[in-house]
Parts: sequence; C-alpha cells; structure tokens
Amino acid sequence: MKVFVNIKKIGGVSASDVSVKKGKEMSEFEMLENTFMVVKNGRVAEHGQMREYNADKFKDYEIIDVKNRIMMPGWCDSHTHLVYAASREEEFVDRIKGLTYEAIAKRGGGILNSAKKLAAATEEELFQSACERIRTMIAKGTTCIEIKSGYGLSFEGEMKMLRVIKRIKEHFPLLIKSTFLGAHAVPEQFKNNKQGYIDVLTNELMPAIQTEKLADFCDVFCEQNYFSREETIHILNAGKKYGMTPKVHANQMSYSGGVQAGVACGAISVDHLEYVGDEEINILKNSKTMPVVLPGAAFFLGLPLPPARKMIDAGLPIAVATDFNPGSSPSGDMNFMISLLCIQYKLTPEEAFNAATINAAYAMDAASETGNLGIGKRADFFITKQIPSTSYIPYSFNENTVEEVYVSGNKIH
Ligand code: NIG
Ligand code: FE
Repeated sequence: MKVFVNIKKIGGVSASDVSVKKGKEMSEFEMLENTFMVVKNGRVAEHGQMREYNADKFKDYEIIDVKNRIMMPGWCDSHTHLVYAASREEEFVDRIKGLTYEAIAKRGGGILNSAKKLAAATEEELFQSACERIRTMIAKGTTCIEIKSGYGLSFEGEMKMLRVIKRIKEHFPLLIKSTFLGAHAVPEQFKNNKQGYIDVLTNELMPAIQTEKLADFCDVFCEQNYFSREETIHILNAGKKYGMTPKVHANQMSYSGGVQAGVACGAISVDHLEYVGDEEINILKNSKTMPVVLPGAAFFLGLPLPPARKMIDAGLPIAVATDFNPGSSPSGDMNFMISLLCIQYKLTPEEAFNAATINAAYAMDAASETGNLGIGKRADFFITKQIPSTSYIPYSFNENTVEEVYVSGNKIH
C-alpha cells in the first residue's frame, strides 16, 4: 500500500468506467489539484485533497512525496512496429533526393528491405534491440504499448517476431498487446501469387498463432500495391475466427477503402487516415471503431495531414500513436506526437492528452485497465519535472518533461 502525497496536479482522473472521449468530450481532461493518491494492489484506490490528508490514517503505508510536481496517466502507444532488425536511413536519404516511399518500395526497399534484414536476425538480437527501444519509450512516459509483427512475411519470420513480442510481454511490467500483421506487404516469392500468400496467412499462420496464443489483434495494410479492401475483409474475418480482433492500416496513401473494410469487420481501430473525407467520417460515426492518427509517419514522409480537427468537430474520438518503425516513423516518443497534434493538427493540449491516454487505451482494448487514473485503474503514470502547467508538455516540444515513471504503482524509471 502506497500513498503519493503533495501532488500539484493529477491529470486524467475521469471515472474509471469512461473508456472513450468523443467530439467535445475530448476537451475535458479532468484534473485534481493539491492532492494525494492512494495505491493498493497496483491500482488507484483513492484521491483526496492535501488539506484533508490525515497522516495517522496512512501510518502503515509507504509514503512517496511527489514534491509539488504534476502526475499524468502514462501514455498508451497503440500502434508500433518496434521489433525490427535494422534502421533504414539510406531510404531516408533517397527520399530527400526525391524518391517517393512508393518508388522505394517498388524496387524492393521499404517493408521488404526490413523483412530481408529480419530474416537474418536471431530472436535474441531482435529481443535485445526491441527492449532497448522500449526503455527509451518508458523514459518518455509510455506505459502501455501495442507491437506488431509484419517484417517476417513468411511462416518462420512472422512466428519469430510474435515469439519475440511474447517474450517482451513477459519481460516488462507494462501492459503490452500484440498484433499479427502478416498482411503488411506481399513477399518477393509470392509477387505473382498474392492469393497464395494470403492462404499462408489464413490457413497456416493463423492456426499456429492461436495455438501458441501469440496475438491479440490482426492487422492489414489496406493500400494500393498492398492489400485491397476485399482482401482486407477476407483476412480480418479469418483472423476473427482465430480469436484476433481486427485493426487496419487504412487510407495512408489513398482512399483505399481501409476505413470501410475496418468498420465492416468491427475493427477496434483504423490507423493513419491521411485520406479521409466525409464518407469515411460518416461511416466512422456509426461505428465503435477508434480512428487513430500517426503524426510521426505523416511528418516523416511528408504526407497530407489526417483531418483530425474536422473529425473531432464532427463528433468523433481520435487516438494518437507513434507508429514506431524504421521506415516511416523512427521514433517512439509520444510527447513529440502530442506536440505535433497541437501544433500541426490544431488540437488543444487537453484533446491531445485524451488522444494519447484513454482513447489510445481503447484502441488496444486496454481502457478497462489503464488510460486514466480513475479509481480501480492500474496505477500507470509519470511524474513530470518541475514545469509550470500541463500545456507546457506539448509546448516545449523535444524537451523530455518526464522525470519518473510508475507501472502498477511501482517505479520503473
Ligand atoms: O505504418 N504503412 C505501413 N506500414 C508502416 C511502415 C512500415 C515500413 O515502412 O517499414 C507504417 O507506416
Ligand atoms: Fe504502422
């Protein structure tokens, strides 16, 4: 039993049964000032005003003095590809010189480049480098992460990635979810037989993944030159039969039908959304699917920005994630994503915080456990450095305002 005292402000203390904030609700990021917070069995048990704090009542508790700093729910990063073998800065340089992401992919670069490198890496190497990346994310305040496969693109490669993710889940106290993204690209050996590859995914990989309980979600890159809307629906429906909840890489490079496919399959989230118009917004409004924007990828590739402001004004929720991967977003820094949401997408800090906490937790089916500091939730949070206000977090972009990080009430950074 622990009590955190002298908290200047706690953010994200809405009721623990709130699992999503939509439209106007996104501007409410409930705060308590000059408080204490009690943690029992790793969960938030009570909040109270410091002026009513009774030291006698807590004499058997471990007391942690927050020293008048701000406490925030840990960031939830619902979309990452952080298991990978090598960086791809040579493609970054090629893009500076004028090649497009699509052109690089066509000549065997991009995802296929990462697949080649992953095939040559051992599980141990992948595990160690991924752990290193996660430690940098924790230091920036992230306490809940989704991790995708998708650089295997073969039976062995995908199983290898998913086993590494399973080991990561066992290694860290963070809440971690895993996603099978075999349909990330069509591998070289199937380039004239896409259906043959889809059959490997649905007939061979999915049963093996279910047997070893390796994935919570199934994801598809629904895009020209990758997987069509119909193929996406087919793969996601097959995944559902093997216990995997659908997600989609949707509408990143074109109006691909990814949003439509995701909503038709009951996807928990559709992610990217650079190409979203009124039709997609209306479809999302009549669904339980979370729209997730990935500002790191749009920034890094110079894509048009997803219309996040318009979506919120239309009454939709928005979540944000890093998309941490070597090709389109080599950063796991949620603080930077939140700054981009405020600066480029014109979200207020409160809207951006909700996008990075409760809505992000929803996008990875973790909102009943984490994503805010309501009573009963996991005590997953960070304590900031001495900063003047919560708006200072996105304002001071590229400064790490995170000082200490706690998961289930235990200090991990
Ligand atoms: O989310 N869009 C597809 N997949 C990744 C990029 C993967 C890569 O380039 O390695 C993304 O941006
Ligand atoms: Fe991605």
